[in-house]
Parts: sequence; structure tokens; C-alpha cells
Amino acid sequence: MRVLVTVASRHGATWEIGEVIAEVLADCGLDVETRAPEDVATLDGIDAVVLGSAVYLAHWMPSARDLADRQTQELRKRPVWLFSSGLAVQPAASANSPHELLALRDQLQARGHRSFRGRLDRSLLTFTERAAIAGARAREGDHRDMGAVRAWATEVADDLIAHPEPMPSVEGASLLHEPRHAAV
Ligand SMILES: Cc1cc2nc3c(=O)[nH]c(=O)nc-3n(C[C@H](O)[C@H](O)[C@H](O)COP(=O)(O)O)c2cc1C
Repeated sequence: MRVLVTVASRHGATWEIGEVIAEVLADCGLDVETRAPEDVATLDGIDAVVLGSAVYLAHWMPSARDLADRQTQELRKRPVWLFSSGLAVQPAASANSPHELLALRDQLQARGHRSFRGRLDRSLLTFTERAAIAGARAREGDHRDMGAVRAWATEVADDLIAHPEPMPSVEGASLLHEPRHAAV
């Protein structure tokens, strides 16, 4: 079974989360390919998809949203999981547009969504980004929990292997019950 892991990332931190997910899926016996969303022209030959994005100013990056929009019908025919990565303390509650994520999950009939903490390295940011984040009280550092990423990827693999066909999802169920982040 061939799985596409496709991740929108500006400074690499979310891409690296995608690489860990890909590694776990491959270790579970799945055939995995990783590609940036803008490089996904077709889903031919792909049986399942993990689509992720860094969160900027409360939104997924345009390349990930564009992929979801232009491949909606194809994605709905396959099992899909979504993940986000950012620094917000309560991504499912207020900071990261939960309604947008719920709508995306419904649009794609995705099986689940998980938020992971990201990385803030001011030395990588543009002047504009530094200005945008100046008042946000975000703590510098790598807050990614690769153990949590690995655990989630294992759940995805187990679910996919047990249920390779798309299943009707319960609207919003796992988004609303995802674990909260610890403060960063
Ligand atoms: C200008 C700017 C705005 C950001 N806005 C958010 C946000 O709204 N919510 C959030 O959770 N994280 C936010 N972040 C944190 C990023 O999502 C985090 O640094 C992420 O790990 C970056 O991933 P990347 O390296 O893959 O681009 C912001 C970071 C910057 C620099």
C-alpha cells in the first residue's frame, strides 16, 4: 500500500515532522513517498495520504490548502489524515482556526487531525516574520515532541493496515478530542 506524506513548511520544522511520520509508516511495512504539496499533480498510484502544514497567523499554509482544494474529490476516495504544527498553546480551542480545520476535515472526509508543537528559531525568520511574532510571547526553541509524532504515526499505520478503505467519519470527533499542548 502506497502512502503519500505531503507537508507544507516554511522553515523546515514541519517538514521534519513529516519525515519522521514517513519513517514510521515505512517501518510498519508501508510504501511511502514524501513530496511538497505544490509538487503533487496527481494521486494516481497513491492509496492513502497524510497531509500536514505549519500554522502561520492561525492558518494552514496556502500550498497545503491548495492541494486540499484541487484534489478534494480524489482525496475523499482515500484514507486521509491531517496534522498541523505550530506554537499555539491551545490550537484546538482558539489560536489556530479550529473551524477552518473542521471544515477541511469534512471537505476531505479525513479520518483524523492532530496538532504537534513546532520550533521557533528566530535566526531563520525574515524581518517581517520577526515583527509579526514579536508580540506573541512565543518561546524560542525546538518544542517538537517526536515521541508523540511517532506514536501518532504508528496509530495511523495500524488504522490504515486494519481499514485500508475510506470510512465515513464522525464530524469533528477527533479534532475536538485531541490532546492539548503544554505551554511553550
Ligand atoms: C510569523 C509567524 C507566525 C506564526 N503564527 C502561528 C500561529 O498562528 N499559530 C501557531 O500555532 N504557530 C504559529 N507560528 C509558529 C510556527 O507555526 C512554528 O514556528 C512552526 O514550527 C514553523 O514550521 P516550519 O519550520 O515548518 O515553517 C508562527 C511563526 C511565525 C514566525
